Amino acid sequence: MASATGIPDVNNLRGTGEDEPLLGRRGDASQQDGTSLLWNLYLGTAAVAQAGIWVLAAIVWGSIFSHDLIFMSAHPLLNSAGLLLVVQAALVLQPTHTPEQKRAGTIAHAIFHFFGVSALTSGLVIIEINKARSGHRAEFASAHARLGLIFYILIYAQVFVGFTQYWVQSIYGGEEKAKKIWKYHRVGGYITATLGLATVCAATWTTYVVNVLSTQKWAVILASVITLVGVVPRIKLQKLGLRRDGENSEGRIRLDL
Ligand code: HEM
Repeated sequence: MASATGIPDVNNLRGTGEDEPLLGRRGDASQQDGTSLLWNLYLGTAAVAQAGIWVLAAIVWGSIFSHDLIFMSAHPLLNSAGLLLVVQAALVLQPTHTPEQKRAGTIAHAIFHFFGVSALTSGLVIIEINKARSGHRAEFASAHARLGLIFYILIYAQVFVGFTQYWVQSIYGGEEKAKKIWKYHRVGGYITATLGLATVCAATWTTYVVNVLSTQKWAVILASVITLVGVVPRIKLQKLGLRRDGENSEGRIRLDL
């Protein structure tokens, strides 16, 4: 298809749609028609995000398995695995743009979340049982515990809104009204994922990690930052109800209500 200037629109020819990612050009982080959903997990800067989150999980798992395993060891193992799955849930959906891709992407997104949030919930149950057993009275005393609590509240809220806005739209008064919620769920998702990474970073300051595991703080922080460096550039402003003015990406950002 030719554009108004007569220059062929290469992105449309490739079936990558019109959406523009936060960094890069149109189509840079868009699923091509006919390609597998799984490619979304590596497309564009997703490879950087994968490097970050897998290294983060490897650091946590490495430091746990290089020490004696105790009941509480399951908490970091399950929570880092859960966060890894939650990041996959975001990466698989970000590049979708046609109705079919979005439908398949939403199902994959929900499946990743089902396993991710199940792991995170098990991690919470483990740490609470551990606290009850060891007679620890101080609940949510450390920065890690407080960030973790906010993270859990946000992720459960996200799961509830995400599920209902797609599959139980009647509670919002119909499809059109439910779709208006999507952009808040997307923004909420990025905030929640960032908080999850911050919670893992804060874990490196807890007494157990400092005294027993001695996990390198800088390595955990660096892996978390790399994860975000991979995820953030793929954010599509249009999907958040924001648009850039002008033809190129140097225009101002505008809110579409
Ligand atoms: C997304 C990931 C994580 C979340 C959401 C999370 C959440 C939490 C929460 C809510 C608590 C407090 C429970 C209470 O006070 O009743 C806690 C405690 C704890 N977590 Fe995590 N955690 C995560 C990852 C990790 C990792 C990776 C480690 C270790 C490398 C870790 C180590 C600890 C330790 C040692 C405690 C007990 C000390 C304290 O309460 O501050 N956590 N976690």
